[in-house]
Amino acid sequence: MKLLKQKVINEGIVLAKGVLKVDSFLNHQMDPFLMREIGREFKALFAEEKITKVLTIESSGIAPGIMTALELEVPLIFARKQKSLTLTEDIYVEKVYSFTKRETNEITVSKKFIAPGERVLIVDDFLANGEAAFGLARIVEQAGAAVAGIGIVIEKSFQPGRDLLLKAGYRVESLVRIASLEDERVVFVGEV
Ligand code: G4P
Ligand code: NA
Ligand code: NA
Repeated sequence: MKLLKQKVINEGIVLAKGVLKVDSFLNHQMDPFLMREIGREFKALFAEEKITKVLTIESSGIAPGIMTALELEVPLIFARKQKSLTLTEDIYVEKVYSFTKRETNEITVSKKFIAPGERVLIVDDFLANGEAAFGLARIVEQAGAAVAGIGIVIEKSFQPGRDLLLKAGYRVESLVRIASLEDERVVFVGEV
């Protein structure tokens, strides 16, 4: 996606250890025009998948998620993150380990929002190791629904998430794919 790639080039800041800071348009300040284009792009990619819900995780997945849901004309659900839970009867719970933050969160979705037989599109801002995407997929499957696809805004292709998700049989569509973040430089997949 050209516009997104340009944003990454112009505004992305490469931090140590392969982390890309995108606080000016995705993770802190958000660019609504870009979000709208992201929604349109995912709509075009997944138009044939008969999506009934979009599922993301708070907080940075919500903006691309809501614009995608708007384009597909379905609701958006965002999984909540919490440290630990007591009452879990009415919610699906999965553990998600973050390598970036070195912590485990429990992510939860109320059972009433995903029905058996639904076709759920998972959307997230970043794909690194795939922990968040797998956690969301397990929630969809716990509900007896199907993962119709996984839409990612920025994929860090040098981390194993994409391959693991493909190996598990999921369809993964990433709007930009980053091959490396070495020497403070962003190299996209397909570039030398
Ligand atoms: P994974 O889900 O693919 O395994 O990724 P990981 O655990 O490494 O990611 C943990 C958090 O860090 C996620 O946000 C993810 O979106 C974010 N993240 C991973 N790599 C990068 C990166 O290079 N740049 C930026 N900006 N974020 C990255 P989160 O904890 O869910 O936070 P948020 O959604 O509230 O922002
Ligand atoms: Na994030
Ligand atoms: Na995220």
